[in-house]
Amino acid sequence: MKKMKELKVLAVVVFFTLITYWGVEPYAHSVMHKHVEGHDFKYPDLKPAPKGNPEKGKQLIATCTGCHSIESQGIKAPMDALAASKAYGVNPPDLSNAGALYDEKFLVDLMQNPNHATKVKKFAMPPSVGSAQDAADIAAYLKSIAPKEISNKEAFESACGRCHAMRYAKWTQLGEIPKTKPNIKTKQDPELMKFKLQVAEYQENLANYMGKLPPDLSTIIRARSKQYLETFVEDPQTQLPGTAMPRVGVTKEAYEKIEQYLEAVGDSSKPDRERIGPWVIGYFVIFTLLAYLWYKSNWRDIV
Ligand code: HEC
Ligand code: HEC
Repeated sequence: MKKMKELKVLAVVVFFTLITYWGVEPYAHSVMHKHVEGHDFKYPDLKPAPKGNPEKGKQLIATCTGCHSIESQGIKAPMDALAASKAYGVNPPDLSNAGALYDEKFLVDLMQNPNHATKVKKFAMPPSVGSAQDAADIAAYLKSIAPKEISNKEAFESACGRCHAMRYAKWTQLGEIPKTKPNIKTKQDPELMKFKLQVAEYQENLANYMGKLPPDLSTIIRARSKQYLETFVEDPQTQLPGTAMPRVGVTKEAYEKIEQYLEAVGDSSKPDRERIGPWVIGYFVIFTLLAYLWYKSNWRDIV
């Protein structure tokens, strides 16, 4: 008789635990963040791009280098990042990795009609190319000079780093915080101070341009679900209608690199947790078994 009662209690506990786990928690989540279906970074709303010729693209690239640097080709930016943020609100990104980051259709649309491609009213880059063919040629050139493999960190820095800082990785919108040495006597570090003031000034220009300072992304991987992050980056307007963050147009592979980087920086204990997890569960299983055997042997003569 006693056993039946215990089993009933157990059943009730299990029942409510499962309801919380599969019912209440996901429900609360779906109320807080509505579910958005992604398109796997295929951008079905954009027209297919014509086939581009990289040789022709190379001849047209001066259209872009009036604002953008291409460091890997020895092309310097016409102004430094801080001056550019004064002029445009944001630093036009270096295009060395562009061919490895952005969807081709997106690039072709961006060059002709930046507001359409990025889905924001305010995008400081003007329409720069007249025909889809010229744009496709430039995109083909960017692809031809892009490195075969870029790291997760480079993907983040090139695609997101002009707007988002990442404190945990010592990243600012002006690049990595330099390693400086404070003066031994005065304990002051004028070089670092100067850098910090420049970052503050850049951030002020950026906040004026965007309406607010884009958030530091150090811990975003823990604050938002992966599904949310993925669909948000694919098309920010679906989750935050009217947001100033542009659709950045990255490919699926590039996004995966960025996500892995956000995870490595923001949740660095995850590999440890995953390694230790099974051991902890194993421990509980064995412990439960021992407790049960002990219980049996203790009560054998009484019940
Ligand atoms: C008048 C200056 C100017 C010219 C010319 C220009 N750009 Fe830009 N470009 C910008 C600025 C400023 C941004 C950043 C805007 C922002 O983030 O709001 C930008 C952003 C970009 C981006 C990043 C887009 C994204 O999704 O994040 C790419 C790629 C790009 N430009 C490619 C090009 C190419 C290719 C050309 C030549 C056809 C070109 N740009 C010409 C100023 C310019
Ligand atoms: C041109 C500047 C710009 C670029 C480039 C940019 N973002 Fe943003 N991002 C913003 C702004 C502005 C916001 C704040 C949006 C708001 O609150 O409306 C934002 C917000 C976010 C958020 C927070 C969303 C939320 O729900 O709180 C995430 C996550 C994010 N960006 C990820 C990225 C990633 C990943 C990239 C690179 C692939 C990127 N962003 C590139 C400007 C930018």
